[in-house]
Amino acid sequence: MSHITTILEENRTFPPPAGVRGNIASLDEYHALCARFQTEPEATWRELAEAQLRWDQPFTRVLNRERAPFFRWFEDGRLNLSVNCLDRHVEDGLGERTAIIWEGEAGEVRHISYSQLLADVCRAANALKRLGIEAGDRVIIYMPMIPEAAVAMLACSRIGAIHSVVFGAFSPQALRDRIEDTGARLVITADGGARRGGIHALKPNVDTALQQGCQTVEHVLTVRHADNPIDTDPARDIDWHTALAAESDKCEPLMVESEHPLFILYTSGSTGKPKGILHTTAGYLLWAKLTMQWSFDFQPARDIFWCTADVGWITGHTYSVYGPLACGGTTVMYEGVPTYPDAGRLWKICADHRITLFYTAPTAIRALIKAGDQWPNRHDLSSLRLLGTVGEPINPEAWIWYHTVIGKERCPIVDTWWQTETGGHMIAPLPFATPTKPGSATLPLPGIDAAVVDEHGDEVTEGGGLLVLRQPFPSMLRGIWGDDQRYIDTYWHKFDGKYYFAGDGARRDADGYFWIMGRVDDVLNVSGHRLGTMEIESALVSHPAVAEAAVVGRPDEIKGEAICAFVVLKQDADAQLADTLRQHVSQEIGAIAKPDDIRFADSLPKTRSGKIMRRLLRDIAAGREITSDTSTLEDQQVVAQLQQNRA
Ligand code: WTA
Repeated sequence: MSHITTILEENRTFPPPAGVRGNIASLDEYHALCARFQTEPEATWRELAEAQLRWDQPFTRVLNRERAPFFRWFEDGRLNLSVNCLDRHVEDGLGERTAIIWEGEAGEVRHISYSQLLADVCRAANALKRLGIEAGDRVIIYMPMIPEAAVAMLACSRIGAIHSVVFGAFSPQALRDRIEDTGARLVITADGGARRGGIHALKPNVDTALQQGCQTVEHVLTVRHADNPIDTDPARDIDWHTALAAESDKCEPLMVESEHPLFILYTSGSTGKPKGILHTTAGYLLWAKLTMQWSFDFQPARDIFWCTADVGWITGHTYSVYGPLACGGTTVMYEGVPTYPDAGRLWKICADHRITLFYTAPTAIRALIKAGDQWPNRHDLSSLRLLGTVGEPINPEAWIWYHTVIGKERCPIVDTWWQTETGGHMIAPLPFATPTKPGSATLPLPGIDAAVVDEHGDEVTEGGGLLVLRQPFPSMLRGIWGDDQRYIDTYWHKFDGKYYFAGDGARRDADGYFWIMGRVDDVLNVSGHRLGTMEIESALVSHPAVAEAAVVGRPDEIKGEAICAFVVLKQDADAQLADTLRQHVSQEIGAIAKPDDIRFADSLPKTRSGKIMRRLLRDIAAGREITSDTSTLEDQQVVAQLQQNRA
């Protein structure tokens, strides 16, 4: 379990700002809605799904539990996601409203209206069809944070194709794994993206990935964006702009069943390769929309919403693209790093675009605290009315800074706990109803039956334990792509199919508030990004010099967790080997997975039964006093060696 060190003792409770009537206006209203969900869950979900979504064919059945834990929601209804995100708003007379404000790293800005976005999505959908893409086909999207990424996602949904977005900083090898696992027929990419004043190549990585395997890919569609020279294979490669220009800006949407797959998004687990989390159409969309209204109090006519996450992550899917667009509001996309050209960049964007709702990760907040208050103080942050965080526990110091220096004590802070698997927020305050406590995600949203339980599944009403979800909900994952058994084993096995086990530890206090303690499995949370220790270990042992490797996390002031690798070599280490191995991991997975520390040893500490003593390694990595019982340790010498050999 990861531990974020806290220096500040912070026990205050912050009341919601007075004088603002939120979409859920009071705790009484919240409790009343929760009670309704408890007494008549299906009727409540029915009412919300009917009111929030535009159906082509209304559903009659709310929830089908016959094949639990493979739940089916609203299954006999039909709808189209892009219609819900675009056409309906244009029909409602909002065609001229800005759907996307995009800012590039160099400062260029684009405003895209709903009408224009709809036209672009139709053109792209027609281009996909012309390439033979049909409903159910998989399409890989490997792009920078540009509006075309959203266009590509929505175009897939318009024709029933299943997208799988791969984060642009993932390596060709990681891209290849995802292409092969999905069996994608098409890759949509860009020549490159902007990063820290330079160019980060994308299409060349696709070329590398496709050199081996990936037999299913027939075409690569490339957006020209970064002036990055690329190779073109005329039999395979197509230019996005040429392809779209040849198409009509009208495209009849394909009405799909509620449970039609919408996307696959890969995320790390404690074993094996990343797993393809499958989300389907109606339930996911419903929750994306509801949580925008509940947790963010989104008011589309007046709010400018900015979620800083990349579309390569679930946060970018739900809160940069689908949630805000489903509501008919304005979403901001920024392509670039938060500290370019200086540490004031995010605050400048907030000021320039009059952002009202701002959503980011604690790791970004901590990095910007370090840069100093002069940066936010230089910009007019008066448009902000709400601040959100996601991805990892927020330490009270960061919370208080966010609250005072950014929010000027006016803005509620919404700490949202959720996962790729849950599609949207699960535990979060209602900003104008729930009193907040720094470091707590507070209470489950209405309709979400979260609980802390002990190893036997018995509820812990006050104290620590494991975080579970006890009832199915519409936006939950529908499985792991191509591996039903792994879905059951990973999430349902622990509590005999009764509860969804999230993989997190949590504590509840006397007020019933949830405090997320971090992962209890072998998953690291590095700068809010999930990485499996096994994945990094496999990358390390795939290097010819490495015999064995074990990876653990250690607390890091900015990143939350840093990656520490213990490595046994087949040969003597030369001076460059640590760097070579870091580079190797970066090539295998991506730069985010590079170990921060590498320690060499003659062997790894193992019990007599041969299990690596991870808790001991975590203590060594953190430089803590060793708390584990080392009496079962095979070779006592190895501990001293690991403590010393820090590369
Ligand atoms: C962690 C990101 C504490 C948690 C949306 C979870 C959090 C994992 C919070 C999911 C939070 C997410 N407080 N921890 N507010 N939000 N986490 O799939 O460990 O990338 O299991 O989804 O991030 O990461 P994922």
